[in-house]
Amino acid sequence: MRRLIIGMTGSTGAIFGVRMLEALKASDVESHLIISKWAQRTLEHETRYTVEQVRGLANVVHSPGDMGASLSSGSFKTDGMVVIPCSVRTLGCIASGYGEHLVHRAADVVLKERRRLVLVVRETPLSEVHLENMLKLARMGVSIVPPVPAFYAKPQTIDEMIDQTLGRILDLFGLDAGTVRRWGETPEAGERPLRAKPHRG
Ligand SMILES: Cc1cc2nc3c(=O)[nH]c(=O)nc-3n(C[C@H](O)[C@H](O)[C@H](O)COP(=O)(O)O)c2cc1C
Repeated sequence: MRRLIIGMTGSTGAIFGVRMLEALKASDVESHLIISKWAQRTLEHETRYTVEQVRGLANVVHSPGDMGASLSSGSFKTDGMVVIPCSVRTLGCIASGYGEHLVHRAADVVLKERRRLVLVVRETPLSEVHLENMLKLARMGVSIVPPVPAFYAKPQTIDEMIDQTLGRILDLFGLDAGTVRRWGETPEAGERPLRAKPHRG
């Protein structure tokens, strides 16, 4: 059984976390979800999903304040973690090792156990602090994946843009939701319509 930790934090782009959970629900991966207080706020502000609906997409939900959760211990085996979206505050907490909530602790555990960590950092413009934190973590093997659209995929809708980015993140865990328009895969690369699921939110 594959097991993935999904941390949602308070940057704009809450829909990326929702779509990640939907993709995992359709797979055989066990999803463990932590939603920070500020992720709840952005989720309610930016989408038509309720926090309860999003929690319902995960196999296991952990409270952000529960440092006694299974994810707090390296002995609890996982295939890694994605923080999606990842605020620069959480980026800083992970880079410094000074965590406040379970997203930070779980990421700290993933780092110390040398498991895969993917941070979908969203902020603009980026300060030197943000860039240095990203560089520090990238040098430790963390994948820094800002949710930047791929225009070569010729997205027609926001859903298609989201699915392309999401698919590239799933690639990092060896998962394929079938939503990536892959360059050079067909004779008419860049012309194939993206197989996007309808946005349910
Ligand atoms: C509507 C809204 C949008 C925000 N967008 C961003 C953002 O894009 N990037 C970011 O780093 N922080 C953003 N913030 C600020 C974070 O939510 C704030 O720094 C918070 O302390 C992050 O805490 P967390 O990482 O524990 O979720 C936003 C806040 C709100 C309310």
